Amino acid sequence: MFNTMTVTKAAGALIGSLLFLLLASWAASSLYHVGPSGHVAEGEEAPQAYRVAVEDAAPADAAGGDAQPQVDFAALMSAADPAAGEKVFGKCKSCHKVDGNNATGPHLNGVVGRAVASVEGFGYSDAMKGHAAEAPNWDPEALQVFLNDPKGVVPGTKMTFAGLKKPEDRANIIAYLQTLN
Ligand code: HEC
Repeated sequence: MFNTMTVTKAAGALIGSLLFLLLASWAASSLYHVGPSGHVAEGEEAPQAYRVAVEDAAPADAAGGDAQPQVDFAALMSAADPAAGEKVFGKCKSCHKVDGNNATGPHLNGVVGRAVASVEGFGYSDAMKGHAAEAPNWDPEALQVFLNDPKGVVPGTKMTFAGLKKPEDRANIIAYLQTLN
């Protein structure tokens, strides 16, 4: 009797603590694996990948913003395609005619090299009239800068057009507009 009780207690205690250790070790190992192998590896690699990308992109953008448009644009203009530009002009047709008549916007005949805000009988915004004082002529460079971001270049303009973001589109459309001079 005595022996049986002692053995039972001892066995119970032993099994209980083994079970506890087993469970504790599973729990610890599962936490350990999820933590270090998942988190730290991700945490170490992801920021580095992002930092490299940002560092690579930033100088390229900065260089582009400072120097490239002018250089590139001259090259783009010499390779520009008026026929492609006529297609891009589809985006302007709802407001601009090229038959000498004004519509929502002033007609664009002869606009390349034309004085800013100079079409007779068209009611330009004060913003565009003000722009004429700063930059009197629509030479190709002025046009391409304006067409990239009309509202950025002439804040308050009546021309509600987001802009032509592709330099090729701007070069082609200017080449097309030049054929109407
Ligand atoms: C939603 C109508 C609309 C669209 C689309 C539009 N324009 Fe205009 N545009 C105008 C208006 C209105 C003005 C006059 C702006 C002002 O007085 O502020 C204008 C002005 C201009 C001027 C200045 C003209 C001048 O006589 O000084 C140019 C150049 C021009 N637009 C080119 C374009 C080109 C190229 C496109 C297509 C890529 C285009 N616009 C798309 C409405 C539009």
